[in-house]
Amino acid sequence: MCGIVGYIGNEQAAPILMEELARLEYRGYDSAGIAVLSEEGICLTKTRGKLQALRNKLAAGMPKGYSGIGHTRWATHGAPSDVNAHPHLDQKGQVAVVHNGIIENYQALRKELQAKGCVFQSQTDTEVVPQLLAQFLQAGEALLPALLKTLDRLRGAYALGILVQEAPDCLIAARKGSPLVVGVADTGNYIASDIPAVLPYTRRVYLLDEGEIALVYGDHVEIYSEWGERVDKKIYEVTWSVDAAERGGYDHFMLKEIFEQPKAIRDTLQPRIRQGRIRLEEAGLTEEYLAGVQRVVLIACGTASHACMVGRVAIEQLARVPVEWDVASEFRYRNPILYPEDLLIVVSQSGETADTLAALRLAREKGCKVLAITNVVGSTIAREADRVLYTWAGPEIAVASTKAYLTQLLCLYLVAIEMAYVKGKLSDETYARYIQELETLPDKAQTVLTSTEPEHALAKRFCHCRDIFFIGRGLDYAAAMEASLKLKEISYIHSEAMASGELKHGTIALIEEGVPVVALSTQGQVAEKLHSNIREVKARGAVVICIAYGDSSLEDGIADHLLYIPRTDDLFAPLLSVIPAQLFAYYCAIERGYDPDKPRNLAKSVTVE
Ligand code: F6R
Repeated sequence: MCGIVGYIGNEQAAPILMEELARLEYRGYDSAGIAVLSEEGICLTKTRGKLQALRNKLAAGMPKGYSGIGHTRWATHGAPSDVNAHPHLDQKGQVAVVHNGIIENYQALRKELQAKGCVFQSQTDTEVVPQLLAQFLQAGEALLPALLKTLDRLRGAYALGILVQEAPDCLIAARKGSPLVVGVADTGNYIASDIPAVLPYTRRVYLLDEGEIALVYGDHVEIYSEWGERVDKKIYEVTWSVDAAERGGYDHFMLKEIFEQPKAIRDTLQPRIRQGRIRLEEAGLTEEYLAGVQRVVLIACGTASHACMVGRVAIEQLARVPVEWDVASEFRYRNPILYPEDLLIVVSQSGETADTLAALRLAREKGCKVLAITNVVGSTIAREADRVLYTWAGPEIAVASTKAYLTQLLCLYLVAIEMAYVKGKLSDETYARYIQELETLPDKAQTVLTSTEPEHALAKRFCHCRDIFFIGRGLDYAAAMEASLKLKEISYIHSEAMASGELKHGTIALIEEGVPVVALSTQGQVAEKLHSNIREVKARGAVVICIAYGDSSLEDGIADHLLYIPRTDDLFAPLLSVIPAQLFAYYCAIERGYDPDKPRNLAKSVTVE
C-alpha cells in the first residue's frame, strides 16, 4: 500500500518529508519521491527503489522550500519505475499530486485530456489528477472550486496530497476510500496516509472522513465536505506508541492483515465486476480465450498452493475443464506433461518464489501460456508471465499469509466462474447469483471479525496440546490444509489436515482422549459423511471444534465447540471458514508466547530452492 506525506510550515520541508517517509517504510513499497515548492517552482525528485535511492538522488542538495509532499509507491497501474513513481505533475509542472487508491475511470479521463492536448509521462492512473486540476485552474477557477470539480470527475478510491504553485501558502489533502490524516503542530502542519508518519512531530491529528478535503496552511487547517461546506472537526489525540501505530494499533501485522481482509476482498473484486459481468481482459482472459481453454494446470507453493486446491475444485466443478494441481517444487522435477494449449496458472503472493518461478519458466519453454496471480506488481513472476491477474491485497508484511490467500481464492473463483459462463456451463441466473454472492463477501468477512473472543478462548484452552488435526471434505478439506498450515507455522503445534474420509486409513490411530480435531463443516453435499467422520473421532475421545454456518443443521452434540461463519454459497465457504482458523492460529501463538509476525526458520519471500 502506498504512503502519502506532506508538510507546510516554518521549517525546511524536504528533511521532514524524508523523515515522514521513513516512518512508512514498514508498509512495503517499490519507489519513492518528493515534491517541494521552492522559489523556482515545484522541485521534483523521485526514483524507483527504496528511500536510500531517493536519499542518494538528493545527496547533492535537498530542494529548499517550506511546503512539500512525498510518497512511497506500491505499484498498481504501471510497473515500478522512475517515471511511474509519485509525485506526478501536470504538463506545465505547476500542480504536483501524490495518490493512494485507484482512479477507476482514468482511461476515459486520460483520453479526454489527451484530446485537449495534454501529454502524459507515466502509465499511472494518478497522472490524470494534476492534469485535470491544472485545466480547471487555468480556466480561472479558484482553488477550492477547481478542486471540487476535479474530485467530482474521479471514480474509485483515493487519498490525495496536492501542491499547487499558484497557492503557495497551502497544501491540499482529500480523502475518499483511502485513509488520510492531518497532523497539527506549532511549527507547521502535516498530512499523512498513516499516523506513524507524523508521530515524531505531533500527536494531534484530524482524521479525515469520507469525502472530506483539507486545505492545510502553515498555521491553521480548514476542512470541507465533498460539497465544499466548512466542517467543524475535533482533534484526535494519539495515545499509541510509534511502534504500535505502524501496526495501525494492532498488536501484530498478522492481526492487522487478518482485519484488512474485507477490504482486500473488496479491492480485488470491485474493479473486475462491471454491469453484472466479470471482466478479466486486463489479464488477457477474453471470452474467446476462456471459451477455448481445454485444460488448466495450477502450480504454487505453501499457502498459495492451498488456494490452488480450492481453484481446482471450483474450475472443475463449474467449467467442467480438467485441472491438474501440483506444488511447484515437485512439478518441475517430474517432467510434467504439458501441451501448448494448456492454461498454466502460477499463484504467488511475492511473485519471487524460486520454485514457482522455475515452474513458470519450464511451462513457457514447453510453449504454454502462463497466467500469474500475484500481489506484487513488477515482481519477477509478473514480468515473466504472459498474463497477470493482480490480487489487490496491499503489502503483506507478516510472514504468515492471510489476506493474500483470500484474494488468491477470489481471483481463482473469478476465473472459474467466467470460464464456466463463456463455455455455456452456467445459466444466466446462476452466474448472476454467484456475482451477487461474491459482492456480499466483504461484509460477511467483516461479520466473522466482529468478535475474536471465541477463537481466543479456544486458543487459551488448546494452545498447549501436542497435536491438533483439521478435517473436512471437498472444499472444506482444501481450506483445512490452509488452516493447519497457519497453526503449525506460527504456534509450532504439530498439526495435520486430512480429507476426513482418509482418517480411517491410518491417521485415526493418533486420535485419543482429549486430542483436538477441528472439523470444517460447510459443504452441504457431504455433510452426513463428515458427521460420520466426526462421530468416529469423538468415539475415540477427540474434542471436536466445528467451523460451520451460523444457521447450519449440525447434529446435536456433534461439536464440543463451535465457531460460526455467515452462510454463503458452499462454493465460496473457504473464503470465510479460513478466517476463524487464522484467528485461532494467531491466538495460539500469542498464548504460547511466540511472535506470530516472525515465525522461526521462515522467510516472507523464498527466493532459493
Ligand atoms: C505461509 C506462507 C507460505 C507462502 C509460500 C509461497 O503462510 O506464506 O507458505 O504461501 O512460501 O509464497 P508466495 O505466495 O510468495 O509464492
